[in-house]
Order: sequence, then C-alpha cells, then structure tokens
Amino acid sequence: MPLDIVIATVPLLEEWRAVHNAIIPTDPLSAADVAERSARNRLTLGYDSGVLVGNATVRPPVDPDGVATVIVRILPEHRRRGLGSAYLESELAEARATGARRIETVVLESNADGLAFALARGFVEHDRYVLDGDTVAFIDLHLPE
Ligand SMILES: CC(C)(COP(=O)(O)OP(=O)(O)OC[C@H]1O[C@@H](n2cnc3c(N)ncnc32)[C@H](O)[C@@H]1OP(=O)(O)O)[C@@H](O)C(=O)NCCC(=O)NCCS
Repeated sequence: MPLDIVIATVPLLEEWRAVHNAIIPTDPLSAADVAERSARNRLTLGYDSGVLVGNATVRPPVDPDGVATVIVRILPEHRRRGLGSAYLESELAEARATGARRIETVVLESNADGLAFALARGFVEHDRYVLDGDTVAFIDLHLPE
C-alpha cells in the first residue's frame, strides 16, 4: 500500500489539526495545543497518491521503562484499504528506532474501528478512563513484549 509519510512542520500543522479534530471530535485541539505537541512529539501526515488520508502521533520513549506511544488515524473515507496498517508499521519502526522498549496506544472507546484494529494487531488493554469534562472514555493499550 503506497503511503507517503511527511513530518507536519509549521505550514502543515493546521492540516494535522483538522485530521485530528475530525477523528477525535470529543477532544478538539487548538492551534496552540498542536504547536506545543509538535515540539515534543513526532507529528506526521499520511498521503496516498498526493491525497491526505490521515495523521499520526508518536510520543518518544520516556524513561525509566522506555514507553513510547504510537497513534495512527485514517479518515473514515480512506479506511479498510490497508493504509492504517502501513502507517502503524512505519511509526512503530520509528518509535523503536528512537529507543522505545514498550509501545502503547490510545483509542477512544467510541472508535470501534480503532479498538478492533489495535486488538487485531496485538495491543492489550491496560487502562480505561474518562477525562474531566469528557463523556467518552479513552482506552490505553500496549504491545506485550
Ligand atoms: C484504526 C484505523 C487507523 C484503521 O485504519 P484503516 O486504514 O482502516 O486500517 P487497515 O485498512 O489497515 O485495517 C483495517 C481493517 O481493514 C481490513 N482491510 C485492509 N485492507 C482491506 C481491503 N482491501 N479490503 C477489506 N478489508 C481490508 C484489515 O484487515 C483490517 O481488519 P482487521 O483489523 O480485522 O485485520 C482507523 O480506523 C482510525 O483512524 N480509527 C480512529 C483512530 C483510532 O482509534 N486510532 C487508534 C489505532 S492506533
């Protein structure tokens, strides 16, 4: 599956934000939120033949356990064509290349596609919680070693 992955540098942060907020409407990010995250995390956009199909976040490994978080998002109209799998594989490799020893992901409970996708790729749930002011739970999962 051809997927071009591009780092979301400043001119692309608004596109990254639009994809995030379309897929996670319960937790919309402001431009300032995204700018702040781009300084800490690897934020990328995914293109298929020049068409924007999704985005991803990789939070780099944190000591003492080397936990990195990888989240891929594909816009609904581009799903079930293998793009999410290709994106995840690539971003897992990026996380491991920066020293991650444990990989986690986060899925919104209402994203049935996202939860099924993560479980089918070996992730195991270890936490489920509702943030202050939210109504839908986030689910934390990890890849067993
Ligand atoms: C999770 C998500 C990224 C998956 O994206 P996607 O592009 O649909 O992913 P894929 O196409 O690679 O795989 C999805 C399913 O489609 C199937 N599929 C892939 N190519 C297919 C094809 N050509 N025809 C039919 N089905 C196909 C896959 O087998 C997979 O099913 P499985 O999980 O039972 O194995 C997307 O649903 C999403 O963005 N969800 C919301 C965000 C989220 O929750 N992200 C967290 C995951 S880290």
